[in-house]
Amino acid sequence: MILYFTGTGNTKFAAEYLADHIEDELVSLNDILKYKRPLEFSSDKAFVVCAPIHAWGFPRIIVRLIKRAKFSGSSKLYFIGTMQSQTGDCDKELSRITAEIGMEYMGFCGIPMPNNYITGGKLPTSSQADELIEASLPVMNELSSRIFQELVITKTDCTPFAAIASGAVNALFNRFAVNDKKFIVSGQCTSCGKCEKVCPVNNIKLSSAGVPHFRDYCINCFSCINRCPSEAIDIGNRTIGKRRYVCPEYETWKKSGLIEEWHD
Ligand SMILES: Cc1cc2nc3c(=O)[nH]c(=O)nc-3n(C[C@H](O)[C@H](O)[C@H](O)COP(=O)(O)O)c2cc1C
Ligand code: SF4
Ligand code: SF4
Repeated sequence: MILYFTGTGNTKFAAEYLADHIEDELVSLNDILKYKRPLEFSSDKAFVVCAPIHAWGFPRIIVRLIKRAKFSGSSKLYFIGTMQSQTGDCDKELSRITAEIGMEYMGFCGIPMPNNYITGGKLPTSSQADELIEASLPVMNELSSRIFQELVITKTDCTPFAAIASGAVNALFNRFAVNDKKFIVSGQCTSCGKCEKVCPVNNIKLSSAGVPHFRDYCINCFSCINRCPSEAIDIGNRTIGKRRYVCPEYETWKKSGLIEEWHD
């Protein structure tokens, strides 16, 4: 069973690739969180949890979800992180929590994907993004093959000072940077409601006048900012006029022949 959480679609793309190639069930953790569905997962095949890397770690909400979830059937647990380039040593925490919940750790690997961290730098154009995704298809292929055979996977990226990045820096980031205090909505907003719909934790509510309000439990997935059709959501003035990014759909790529069929 492939379980994925996504902000801007990169992790959904990778999870759909895996599910398609190993013919496994796909579960959206966004839906589980948004609609408060039970955290009960049952499968005879290994579980694969996929999430974006946030500050050299798995998003805290996903770590908490894994700790609380009930897994039945298989006891094998894999982790996949989609990232711009660095996963730190987040695999250490993932290995530890797998042991805590009494499951068998089958490894972690990061898949490089386009950057969606709009406050951190320039986001890619759609052709730059396509190139980055294409370059990662062999990684997805290799991971599909190993997971299909239930072989251990290992990370391939290397982060300088990984222990500090995934330790102290990640802790400080989650403590002080993950919030919606500086989120603003400009006059370009058309009250379409898309931001409310895409927020995985229901942190956005449109007022009766159609103005989005942020409710102080944002997890900084950056879905609303990147997906707003009017580019009306900003983080202070740091993102004004900056390019947005949303991952192309896996199915569209497949239909246009961009994904080669994989055979065991
Ligand atoms: C808050 C935040 C923090 C991020 N931190 C990292 C990081 O530490 N290392 C990295 O390589 N990419 C980082 N990124 C980039 C994302 O991990 C990457 O773009 C990911 O594929 C997004 O997946 P999604 O589209 O499924 O949300 C960060 C993105 C966000 C929004
Ligand atoms: S998605 Fe953008 S335009 Fe639509 S309601 Fe939200 S902020 Fe306004
Ligand atoms: S409000 Fe926060 S959690 Fe909700 S979509 Fe926007 S960035 Fe993600």
